[in-house]
Amino acid sequence: MMEERYIRILKEIALLGAIDREIPLSSYQLSKIISCSQQSASRYLIDMEKKGYIERKIGIKKQRIRITEKGRGLLEKEYLDYKRIFSKERRISLKGKVISGLGEGKYYTNIEGYVKQFLKKLGFKPVPGTLNVRISKEYTDRLKELSELEGIEIRGFSTKDRSFGGAKCFRAKIDNEDAVAILPSRSHYSDILEFIAPYKLRERLNLRDGDSVNIVIDLGGEDEESRDS
Ligand code: CDP
Repeated sequence: MMEERYIRILKEIALLGAIDREIPLSSYQLSKIISCSQQSASRYLIDMEKKGYIERKIGIKKQRIRITEKGRGLLEKEYLDYKRIFSKERRISLKGKVISGLGEGKYYTNIEGYVKQFLKKLGFKPVPGTLNVRISKEYTDRLKELSELEGIEIRGFSTKDRSFGGAKCFRAKIDNEDAVAILPSRSHYSDILEFIAPYKLRERLNLRDGDSVNIVIDLGGEDEESRDS
């Protein structure tokens, strides 16, 4: 894939310093660094300029190259992936805006079969309702990742009238206040994340519809080092 090649080249030229200044670089030099023909190296640089990953200034002997914001973004995404792999990150940070739902949260959080499990597994009885946050576009990948993780399981159950679906919970902080994110197990993807808490989050954080919030999801789990030793 072309993008992988661009990332590789961006990495190499960033190591040469092109992330915050212009550097002189001929296509011949690049071809040696990434082991390809000079023609290919030249073509890659032209393509990368067209795609907006680098800026080039053509000189008499050598061209000068600098990585653009867009190029930096591509490299940074790669960096964040590696960071997560090696730091065993136990948190997911998200941003979003408070919205109102349809008032369904109040109904579900009052059902005894759920309340009992909240008490036992989370250690508190939530105030009725859920705070709904629409997650900003830049964070939808992370939200998707969260939806694929195992959390604290809230089991589904049936009463004589109907059945209630399961959910999974993650301890979280919304603007530094403790809360619990709750995701229904059987639901199609949504960009809305719901929270329960032992207090009214809107009151505690003085939140109105449209307000931005910072969310940190705690993925729990012990860290590897202490487990191995
Ligand atoms: O109408 P909506 O679905 O948003 O509300 P709900 O789930 O019935 O919750 C009632 C109200 O309490 C909503 O305004 C929620 O945002 C808010 N709430 C809160 O501030 N803190 C909580 N821990 C739970 C709900």
